[in-house]
Amino acid sequence: MDLYGKMANTQDVKQKENSEQNFDFMFKLLIIGNSSVGKTSILFRYADDSFTSAFVSTDTAGQERYRTITTAYYRGAMGFILMYDITNEESFAAVQDWSTQIKTYSWDNAQVILVGNKCDMEEERIVSVDSGRLLAEQLGFEFFETSAKENINVKQTFERLVDIICDKMADSLETDPAVSTGTATTRLTDNPAPPQQSECNC
Ligand code: GTP
Ligand code: MG
Repeated sequence: MDLYGKMANTQDVKQKENSEQNFDFMFKLLIIGNSSVGKTSILFRYADDSFTSAFVSTDTAGQERYRTITTAYYRGAMGFILMYDITNEESFAAVQDWSTQIKTYSWDNAQVILVGNKCDMEEERIVSVDSGRLLAEQLGFEFFETSAKENINVKQTFERLVDIICDKMADSLETDPAVSTGTATTRLTDNPAPPQQSECNC
């Protein structure tokens, strides 16, 4: 399990955000999942329309010193792409744990899309589409299968995530007008006190 290794991807996302100067809203999105499922690849496909088969891990798995900043990275994230690799059973089995991490560390209304990546590798498929869809239903997430390599459903995944975040914001505005006041930023980005602060190694 490499929860603490996902932070580099967070920075990748922020670079993408910062490179776009014309925007109505800015969201912090995180891409999480086991090592080598294709997190960096899907971001490169989306941001640069590029793909490389070389595997350069941006993973800092197991580096305990990153544990203390986990809550900071999750804080304020409004959307997650929770990714597994359809050819890798272990990455699929880990989805439940990643989901728990999201629920523990992130804003209550953070939106999540479960993504089964590498759907171009049909011959090596181990996780069926139905299994992925069922798990997504159980967790209350939307679901896509993608291929960063063949550019399948990449744009759709990001756009859908932004759509459901916007829907959620609209709901919040309807039910709680305070969100539209100066307190909006605070309300939408602050985290409830993370229950696992005691894990801090300081
Ligand atoms: P970490 O940085 O270690 O957490 O891994 P990651 O999740 O960022 O994975 P990465 O994007 O580096 O991809 C891992 C390997 O899978 C690389 O060799 C990619 O080329 C390959 N890969 C990623 N996406 C796809 C895909 O959609 N199809 C295929 N066939 N290969 C893919
Ligand atoms: Mg990576």
